[in-house]
Amino acid sequence: MEKIFIFDTTLRDGEQTPGVSLNAKEKLEIAKSLEKLGVDVIEAGFPMASKGDFEGVKLIALNIKNSIVNALARANKEDIDRAYEAIKYANKKRIHTFLATSDIHMKYKLKMTREEVLERVYKMVSYAKTLVDDVEFSPEDGSRTEKEFLYKVLETAIKAGATVLNIPDTVGYSTPDEFGGLIKGIKENVKGIENVIISVHCHNDLGMAVSNSLAAITAGARQVECAVNGLGERAGNAALEEICMAIETRKDIYGFKTDINTEKIYRVSSLVSYFTGINVQPNKAIVGANAFSHESGIHQHGVLEKRETYEIMTPESVGFKTNNMVLGKHSGKHAFSEHLKELGYDLSEEKVVETFTKFKELADKKKEVSDKDIEALINDSSIKTEDRYKLISFNVSTGNNVSSMANVKIELGDGIIEEAACGDGPVNAIFNAIERATKTEYTLIDYKLKSISSGTDALGEVTVKLKREDRKVLGRGVSTDVIEASANAYMNALNK
Ligand code: KIV
Ligand code: ZN
Repeated sequence: MEKIFIFDTTLRDGEQTPGVSLNAKEKLEIAKSLEKLGVDVIEAGFPMASKGDFEGVKLIALNIKNSIVNALARANKEDIDRAYEAIKYANKKRIHTFLATSDIHMKYKLKMTREEVLERVYKMVSYAKTLVDDVEFSPEDGSRTEKEFLYKVLETAIKAGATVLNIPDTVGYSTPDEFGGLIKGIKENVKGIENVIISVHCHNDLGMAVSNSLAAITAGARQVECAVNGLGERAGNAALEEICMAIETRKDIYGFKTDINTEKIYRVSSLVSYFTGINVQPNKAIVGANAFSHESGIHQHGVLEKRETYEIMTPESVGFKTNNMVLGKHSGKHAFSEHLKELGYDLSEEKVVETFTKFKELADKKKEVSDKDIEALINDSSIKTEDRYKLISFNVSTGNNVSSMANVKIELGDGIIEEAACGDGPVNAIFNAIERATKTEYTLIDYKLKSISSGTDALGEVTVKLKREDRKVLGRGVSTDVIEASANAYMNALNK
């Protein structure tokens, strides 16, 4: 079977999801999990966009060995130089440069003529080619570009040395028949197309990103650009997990393979959701909490008799564990570490010991620790931060006819600061006390609390988003006590 290359853009287009902002360490954690997942190309970021983006791409380039590390650049010399600076130490590197080619974009956004666009494509692809061997070119808004002109643009990029030509459906406007036809037309009309890889990049504005991408591979595309959990600008990009499982489950129709280790899909999806603070909808295909649940009696009966009556793929094939094993405070380190392996974690000994200590603390507070709890503990400790502020202890009093009051003790350098504040409810009170103690002033623009498992002693996971001027920071905390989880999340954001 021929291979379809999986190009993951979670860290670039995915990071353009409204409200998402990842720091360099978080990006590296996600990149490492994408490498383990087996993606061929990791689009690590857009180095010219900001200093933080540049640092993130560079860190990934220095640490990722198996996947190609790709940096995005507009078709100008400054962007391409910046992209190259960020990826130059990567084991396998690619520059991805783009320029809009639809009439509407050229006229209103670029204010360039067709001739000028062709000239720029030639010059900039040639320039990128002097820096790296592997150059991808995208005619932005490709699906709305006049066909004959699109063919000319693509021929120009090939002449200049492009190795991959990516056709974006930038505004998610195309339909499967139309988009498949576009790829077929490109294959039939563009001189030299047989020497390059055709790629596609579909947005989900009409909910057709995955269908359009699959129609494109049937018509001749061999690389698909996608993002974990379907993240991306506006309605998002084609979801990586859906593309890969469609190719895998319907081999009979598509006749292709990918190099994705599908059993790692769920783990990556959960890590991305944790770091971005974007929850996966329960009915989301492949990775939603309900994707493998059977509610109606008829379905349950059918599955018990023969799984295939209502399941077209096994939960295990995407890393969903259905036999949610429960560990308790008497479970030893060996059983714990074996269980982590069964869950698909591949942690260093140091990390296992650290997680085991946290597990023991949790098992002292709640009788049964589920796989979901363990996943939350691992996510919570996946990144070591140099904390400036440490919450030593707190005390909250609250009631329905008194105002809430919080005291906090916070370590800062060699000193300890104690402060108290009132608030409208215990969360507001503790946030006010922290703000007073740390002499910081941010606006809380988002607060989310979710329970990790079931039961009144479940772990609560809190996500907060703080804002000052243009900067937004996400903080997270977990605890069986939701006030403590809230305080930890606030402190985490402050430390970032
Ligand atoms: O949607 C788009 O056109 C893009 C390009 C940069 C490939 O993200
Ligand atoms: Zn895009």
